[in-house]
Amino acid sequence: MEPKEKLLIQGIIDDLTTAIAQLENYNQFSRWTTRMLLKAAIHKAENIEKQQAQKQKQQAIAYTGYDREWLSSSATPVDTTEIFPGEVFVDTADFDSGIRQLLPRYDEMLNAIAHCIPPNAQRILELGCGTGELSLKILHRCPSAQIIALDYSPRMLQFAKHKIESAGYLNRWKGIEADFGDWTKEPDKINIGIGFDAVVSSLAIHHLTNEMKLKLFQRIKESLNYKGVFWNADPILPESPALAAVYQTVREEWAALSGTTLAEIRAKIGKSASHGYSHLDQLATLDNHLQMLKTAGFDPVAVPWKYYGLAVFGGEVS
Ligand SMILES: C[S@@+](CC[C@H](N)C(=O)[O-])C[C@H]1O[C@@H](n2cnc3c(N)ncnc32)[C@H](O)[C@@H]1O
Repeated sequence: MEPKEKLLIQGIIDDLTTAIAQLENYNQFSRWTTRMLLKAAIHKAENIEKQQAQKQKQQAIAYTGYDREWLSSSATPVDTTEIFPGEVFVDTADFDSGIRQLLPRYDEMLNAIAHCIPPNAQRILELGCGTGELSLKILHRCPSAQIIALDYSPRMLQFAKHKIESAGYLNRWKGIEADFGDWTKEPDKINIGIGFDAVVSSLAIHHLTNEMKLKLFQRIKESLNYKGVFWNADPILPESPALAAVYQTVREEWAALSGTTLAEIRAKIGKSASHGYSHLDQLATLDNHLQMLKTAGFDPVAVPWKYYGLAVFGGEVS
């Protein structure tokens, strides 16, 4: 406890001690004084609570680098429309441009996943496809790929389908409205089979608790063919408060380069609570992710791309 808080608590104890003494020596005058002393003690106690809540919030921001307004929702949203975790923007039409301002090197990150998929891959599963940006890059690079794309948001799926159709790839892409947490727990409920050459995901799995992340990685491993690959792009929990500050600065600078500010972009971000198996950001460190991948049986595991607080990581089935 800090010296300032110690002093405040000592103050409360003093006020209460005097109040008790007044009660012992009870009369009309001391009743009023006692009330005042008790009020003062309560006020001081509330002050400590407020300061501690503020301190906790600052600490959370320092450690994660994000103030919950990053990819999931804002604590004090400008627009209070409820969206699902991961949809990010109130208006889905803002996603493609907004995400490129919000995240440094978004295209490079998705291209890294596309590059890590064997070009002759045939059966690919994407988890949390959003508006279909990663699907498009993969369909472009892997000419014989057939993608099954899961997303629990009908709004995002609708956008994805429209874009994929416009690009002429609809015969190689199938969108399914489903929660990948359900697929993890009860795969038979979502009839997509196994035998995938690659499973991919970007900016979606970090909404699962760590316990569910591990279960999902195990499910993915079981659904992949021999030599199949899993690649995921996600924000990572900064390794220290100092690095959290660095990652945050990089994002601010990126937004400035894109001609805007994080605050301006956040004005378009919606408010979300938990939905299905997804919650507000549940970040884990890169080390922790690699450990979970190893526990799930991937070998080798690797980090083919990293840029400050964002990374592409995954592994192979050998
Ligand atoms: C930030 S977007 C990223 C979309 C896309 N992968 C990209 O990189 O542009 C996250 C997507 O994951 C979806 N999502 C989040 N949790 C999900 C879950 N448990 N099951 C299915 N979809 C989920 C959201 O609806 C959203 O479309």
